Amino acid sequence: MNKKSPVSRSGRFTGGPAAEAAQFTESISFDWRLWRHDILGSLAHAAMLRKIGVLTRAEQVAITRGLNKIGLEIRAGNFKWKPELEDVHMNIEAELTRRVPAGAKLHTGRSRNDQIALDIRLWLRDEVTALLGDIVGLQRALVLLGEKNADVLIPGYTHLQRAQPVFLAHHLLAYVEMLERDCERLWDCQSRVNICPLGSGALAGSTLPLDRGLAARLLAFADVEGKVQLTQNSMDAVSDRDFAVEFCSAGALLAVHLSRLAEDVILWAGAEFNFIKIADAYTTGSSLMPQKKNPDIAELARGKTGRVFGNLMALLTLLKGLPMTYNRDLQEDKERLFDTADTVRATTRLMAAMLKNTKINRAACAAAASDPALLATDLADYLVRKGMAFRPAHHAVGAVVALAEKTGKTLNQLTLAELQSVDKTFGRDALDVFNLKTAMAKRNLTGAPGTKEVAKQLARWRAQLS
Ligand code: ARG
Repeated sequence: MNKKSPVSRSGRFTGGPAAEAAQFTESISFDWRLWRHDILGSLAHAAMLRKIGVLTRAEQVAITRGLNKIGLEIRAGNFKWKPELEDVHMNIEAELTRRVPAGAKLHTGRSRNDQIALDIRLWLRDEVTALLGDIVGLQRALVLLGEKNADVLIPGYTHLQRAQPVFLAHHLLAYVEMLERDCERLWDCQSRVNICPLGSGALAGSTLPLDRGLAARLLAFADVEGKVQLTQNSMDAVSDRDFAVEFCSAGALLAVHLSRLAEDVILWAGAEFNFIKIADAYTTGSSLMPQKKNPDIAELARGKTGRVFGNLMALLTLLKGLPMTYNRDLQEDKERLFDTADTVRATTRLMAAMLKNTKINRAACAAAASDPALLATDLADYLVRKGMAFRPAHHAVGAVVALAEKTGKTLNQLTLAELQSVDKTFGRDALDVFNLKTAMAKRNLTGAPGTKEVAKQLARWRAQLS
């Protein structure tokens, strides 16, 4: 064997790669973080090789011990990664073989092409599970904030203009709904991540009688009914990264939702709205202006969408022109995948922590929500109840609003005579419309921001998330 070159070059090549070529092609600087899953995959592969007689029991035991020991060293930070060994697979295998001669048999029937496909599926499966937990944490924080302020009303907005009153909880639960769809997408993505590619070899399987089912079972590649999940085409298996695209796509939409929530938080924290106060521990100061307290966490949540969208675009671009099957281009998938997972997970957790440390400024909310103009539509509905068609009712209330503006009054300060100067249909009870409490009690359609309905929705989420 050529001692100077990595295992993948010995035999065929006359020497090691040029230094700059090695530096350009290495992936150990980022794929080292797959070590745990690489070792898990090798343990299962070794167990399978033992079952089909490629390894003796003693050899399997030695390999298992060797891999476990290497794992402990990596975890403790005592393992020396060698860039000349290119990637995580060869670093671990080379060190194993140096310590345990039977390590030389571990790569039987396996290629780095199915090995990396396996590693990222195993890694992503854990990340998806963890991200689902992070999202539930954020949903709980939103529900809790809504529950603690169940009676707080704020204006609901369209076009960022005050529109109609809503319970703050209703606004917060809108995000809980969005996040629930994110969870559904991630669960769906998980069903395609959770398929075992091991046994696909470089692209064409193996002539050896590998027991693919055994390795897959050991690695828990099974659907909800416990049916083992194996890739069904070796060429597809080594070059498929659809699951990574799906994850980055679900991550991009999650990032959109986090960014929208962040934008509301940023607006609400400003003096113009003043609806919330974020605790000092989750805000930052200005280096120049002593009075400033900035919602930087929310701003970064909004800002980080750029890289998450970029990761999705990078992956799609990476895949679009690839001929079958594995091509080294695919090595570029990892940093994009890692970055999306790291970014959306951290953002989700930080948004939850920030909301748990946010107080609602009840007085400012009440002042904003008591703007009678928010109930102009209710006044039109009043006329409809009296038998008027909605279009003329809309027109009449528009004229009432104009009159209020002209006389410098709020809508509820107008007299019955003034209302009737616009339309005779207005009765003595017209002004009752402006009682916010009764107005909210009337909004009881499913999904509406009514008193009963919002309480019902809060209770539903509370039960679902506990
Ligand atoms: N580092 C490589 C990747 O991330 C591992 C697979 C390399 N396979 C190969 N035949 N060079 O894709």
